[in-house]
Amino acid sequence: MNAVETQAQLLGEEQSVWFKLTPLLKGNTENPMSILCQMAERYGPVIPVNMGSERVVLISEPELFKHVLVSKADNYIKYFDGLKPIFGKSMITHDGALWQKIRMPQQPAFHPDAFADYIPFFTQAIKQKMEGWARHAKAGDTFEMVEQTWTLAADMICKALFDRDMPFNPHVVFKYVKTYTDVQEHKGIRQKKQSGDAYEVTEFDAAKAMEAWAAVPPAVIGADPRDHREKTLLKLIEDCVADPAIPEFDRQQAVDEIKQYLWAGTETTALTLAWALYLLSIHPEAAQRVIKESEEVLGDREPTAADYTALVYTRSVIQETMRLYPPVWGLIRVAAGDDVIGGKEIKAGDRIVLFGYSAHHNPRFWDEPEEFRPERWTDKSAKRQVKYSYIPFGAGKRSCIGGAMSQVENTLALALLLRRFRPEYVGPVPAPINATVTLTPKGGLMFKVHELS
Ligand code: HEM
Repeated sequence: MNAVETQAQLLGEEQSVWFKLTPLLKGNTENPMSILCQMAERYGPVIPVNMGSERVVLISEPELFKHVLVSKADNYIKYFDGLKPIFGKSMITHDGALWQKIRMPQQPAFHPDAFADYIPFFTQAIKQKMEGWARHAKAGDTFEMVEQTWTLAADMICKALFDRDMPFNPHVVFKYVKTYTDVQEHKGIRQKKQSGDAYEVTEFDAAKAMEAWAAVPPAVIGADPRDHREKTLLKLIEDCVADPAIPEFDRQQAVDEIKQYLWAGTETTALTLAWALYLLSIHPEAAQRVIKESEEVLGDREPTAADYTALVYTRSVIQETMRLYPPVWGLIRVAAGDDVIGGKEIKAGDRIVLFGYSAHHNPRFWDEPEEFRPERWTDKSAKRQVKYSYIPFGAGKRSCIGGAMSQVENTLALALLLRRFRPEYVGPVPAPINATVTLTPKGGLMFKVHELS
């Protein structure tokens, strides 16, 4: 068996919790989340579901998210079936002391004090994207938005965190990412194959995609620095490899950390921006407020850290987008030992799904939760949200390292893009959702863009 075939075997992990949830997500083709929300409403906040040899426990109450992510976090460990080829042995896959040793030295690159240094690089990436949009506008093209925002997010990470111009074709890598995400439905694909139906990707295609994916970090490391900056995340990672006090942080660790940032740090950011553009396109009055704020705060200047703080409404559009369309709709853990949650017994080995989406859409925590209302984030009289009822970045010690930074990226992107263009969503409303590891638009989000005079 060659390396690609071995990889293909790994990919077909039928034990993965994602495969197990697939039948539950098939109930509503427009929004597969609704069936899980209905289950939570009908059967309560802790729902154990027997699936073959193991149980999946669906949890939907903020207080219980806290139990798993904060109070008893050490009993609920990361679970990565099917995703190892993407993340390797990067920080996101580890637990305990080793995880801490890997995360701690990288943390300073994500401290808000570092953002001012990154903003000029985010801006350059956004301006480059605008040149592409100007060409699309002129040609009257229709294009898919997640691909656009994903390539933008990848460029922002490469420029700001790695001091590199993207040394790979982002559209090709984007295709790898999509191919691998489709692998989450591999079981379904294999069944279709047996019944003679058409299918989109094979395990072999996915394994090939992962082989190509593995070539990306060496390309980043080997590329010329663009500005020879002293303080970058890539430099911190290289320092870790050279540090004898952390022997675990070897060259492979560096490669896998880069993989992790180019996936975990881009797909989620890109989905948020694409969903935000969709929401603004179908709520033109909100888009007008973004444009007005951008004109008042930025004028024709390039943005600074102080401008980011002042873009209050634009930031609340991003927050509201992540409430309605949390890119990570469910957090997955495995119970290390027995426990009791919400009066229900948890057994060691149970797969835990913290269903953040349901809390984001629950009328007990949000007035008219299905409404897109950015003002709820700034209006003091709006119903106060309950702690842990909003967890787009997770919670506790394993929460997202790049969450705050992604809000800077997306707020600036919205402010700058809308100052020059009117993105027009041309697909069905509401846009149908596809739920794999992330919450993606089924079939993508099709747009035209118009340049404002
Ligand atoms: C809208 C954008 C983003 C969203 C919604 C998001 C969401 C998340 C969530 C929910 C987790 C926790 C997963 C869990 O508890 O199982 C996480 C972890 C992580 N995210 Fe993000 N993320 C975003 C942007 C970023 C960015 C920009 C970066 C870095 C460039 C990043 C890097 C990471 C890493 C490395 C982890 C693992 C942290 C650890 O295990 O200690 N993310 N993200």
